Amino acid sequence: MLRLTVAGITGRMGHAVAELARADPAITLIGGLIRPEREGASDLMLPAGIQLTADALALLRESDVLIDFTQPAATARYASACAEAGCALVTGTTGLGDDQLDELRTAATSIPVLHASNFSLGIAVLRAVLPALVRALADWDVEIVEHHHRHKRDAPSGTALALREIIRAGRPETNSPVVAGREGMALRRPGEIGIHAIRGGGEPGRHLVLLGSEDELLELSHRVHSRRAYAAGAIAAAKWLAGRAPGWYRIDDLLAERLGDLAWASYARGRPGSS
Ligand SMILES: NC(=O)c1ccc[n+]([C@@H]2O[C@H](COP(=O)([O-])OP(=O)(O)OC[C@H]3O[C@@H](n4cnc5c(N)ncnc54)[C@H](OP(=O)(O)O)[C@@H]3O)[C@@H](O)[C@H]2O)c1
Repeated sequence: MLRLTVAGITGRMGHAVAELARADPAITLIGGLIRPEREGASDLMLPAGIQLTADALALLRESDVLIDFTQPAATARYASACAEAGCALVTGTTGLGDDQLDELRTAATSIPVLHASNFSLGIAVLRAVLPALVRALADWDVEIVEHHHRHKRDAPSGTALALREIIRAGRPETNSPVVAGREGMALRRPGEIGIHAIRGGGEPGRHLVLLGSEDELLELSHRVHSRRAYAAGAIAAAKWLAGRAPGWYRIDDLLAERLGDLAWASYARGRPGSS
């Protein structure tokens, strides 16, 4: 039985994780971490019976894994608390700065830590196939468009940034300057990667990668219908991470078997003599 605590349980993602965890017979939901100023608040819309506290260490010492969807500063604090309590950490918080990532990496020297900017399976597969497409269409223009709900704080999304890095790595010979949005006289430069953030409505997450030549356009589009897609990925990650050795893990490690076929297929196609 996996003993789970959720940070950010009053938020959209934390709520979705708690709902799935409560319905999962393989999980005991130990409780939820909240900000000190929210302790005792009566307006928290949560299912009854969940223990809520700002005392992170007390809950984490009883837990195997913390799933965290909060904000960068809180995630860094929770990483230190997990290390002190000996509790594994799965976090999906985006917009982490270098200092905050350093705190997570320090925690990973004593506990297993898995950070992913997107827990959806569809995005994991997109990331796996993108290098082959970018290499095959090396001189095509690339643009990334992402759309998220009006409450999202960071832009561009962590997923758009990760896709951008994959594209840049696939074209090492090109400088690949990155342009965020365009305005006024803004002629496209060769090799440029355009990245555009739309904010509005309740959209849980939509990413579009456009690859275009003068005569053709290839569109890779991904959309989640509900936050359950991310929550299910985070719970799968928590089950996979519990009991592992301290270290820094990626969502691709968890999906290695499934993604391995794709990576192998791209590699095999690139080998001389392969059909
Ligand atoms: N990796 C993925 O697949 C994925 C998917 C979706 C979202 N995300 C990311 O997950 C994060 C949360 O997204 P969301 O849509 O759930 O946001 P949200 O609805 O605003 O929820 C944020 C949660 O964090 C808590 N929080 C804020 N500041 C805190 C602090 N200083 N200390 C402790 N808790 C604090 C909030 O508590 P209060 O209620 O007290 O404010 C709330 O419970 C964002 O970074 C988002 O980009 C990642």
